[in-house]
Amino acid sequence: MTLLKTFIAFFIFWGVIFVSALVDLQHLFARQVLRNKLRFIIISLVFGIVVIGLLAAFASAKASQQLPQQPVAFPHTIHAGKLGIACTFCHRTVQTEPVASIPSVEQCMFCHRVVGKEKPEIAKLVKAADAGTPLNWLRINRVPDTVHFNHASHIRVNISCAICHGPVEKMVKIKPVRNLKMGDCVECHRSNSAPTGCSTCHY
Ligand code: HEC
Ligand code: HEC
Ligand code: HEC
Ligand code: HEC
Ligand code: HEC
Repeated sequence: MTLLKTFIAFFIFWGVIFVSALVDLQHLFARQVLRNKLRFIIISLVFGIVVIGLLAAFASAKASQQLPQQPVAFPHTIHAGKLGIACTFCHRTVQTEPVASIPSVEQCMFCHRVVGKEKPEIAKLVKAADAGTPLNWLRINRVPDTVHFNHASHIRVNISCAICHGPVEKMVKIKPVRNLKMGDCVECHRSNSAPTGCSTCHY
């Protein structure tokens, strides 16, 4: 958003310079002046593009920084994408309980006792398994404590994971795709004749 504003501001700025150069017809025929103005326009254009490029790089670096660093860099792209393992194979409780479970280290080791032990991220997993310590996965999606969300109620009526979580199988790192604020929840409930009374979602 700030990037878009910067773009607009820059093009207005540049446009004013450009127009003022054109309007200044008296001097336009003096070659030296024209050359100077052209040079100014080109320099300001190049400068503007560089500034916008830097801002864009900064904004994207900041956006990826906001995603927490997981204890093991678990890629959904390999597991849910390439290997095509079902979401419910790992998030077992999602069809029957409010909360979607995350696999234990032992469940990961079912495959990783054998697969990929030479990879540094899997070495971390093996280390945790040998030490018997769980991995403390950091939460990405979270509603406040005053709200109760229930996965099973949604899965039962065939709302797919992707409707709320996006194309997870294409995400190396999970990012939230839907804001899942009250307005968003209620709007979908209303259009699907699901309950909208306050006590549906609040304790
Ligand atoms: C059904 C088998 C299976 C299960 C279960 C499984 N994985 Fe994997 N995983 C794989 C395979 C196969 C690869 C690809 C390995 C390769 O490229 O050498 C992989 C790759 C990975 C990688 C990427 C390694 C790299 O750097 O390329 C990580 C990290 C990983 N798994 C962690 C986990 C964690 C954590 C769990 C448990 C939540 C888990 N895996 C459960 C089969 C599995
Ligand atoms: C091999 C096991 C495995 C499979 C298959 C798998 N996941 Fe996951 N999932 C995990 C692990 C481990 C985490 C925690 C680490 C992370 O956030 O990346 C996780 C995290 C998530 C999260 C973020 C949870 C939060 O805190 O908000 C979502 C959403 C998710 N998975 C959805 C899916 C969906 C949808 C699929 C199917 C397309 C899927 N997962 C398939 C293991 C798996
Ligand atoms: C109607 C929207 C919606 C659908 C559909 C949905 N989720 Fe979620 N998911 C959420 C919300 C909201 C949270 C945060 C819940 C909280 O903080 O209690 C969440 C959290 C999670 C988590 C973190 C653990 C937890 O339960 O808080 C995982 C893992 C997850 N979802 C996986 C899945 C998978 C896999 C599917 C499909 C089988 C799925 N979700 C379908 C909205 C959805
Ligand atoms: C994509 C549409 C959609 C979104 C988004 C959605 N829901 Fe739902 N939700 C439904 C539908 C449809 C049902 C009704 C299921 C049924 O008929 O049993 C439902 C049921 C529920 C239930 C169980 C109600 C009951 O009495 O059994 C709860 C709790 C709930 N939703 C909370 C939430 C919260 C909190 C959010 C936002 C974080 C949310 N939902 C987002 C469609 C949605
Ligand atoms: C379908 C689910 C759903 C229903 C129904 C619902 N809410 Fe909410 N509500 C949420 C979610 C999710 C949040 C937290 C996210 C946010 O702040 O928007 C929330 C936040 C709130 C907050 C802000 C509290 C805070 O912790 O910041 C208030 C106040 C509130 N709701 C009141 C109501 C009232 C009053 C009703 C009945 C008219 C209602 N809600 C019905 C899902 C719902």
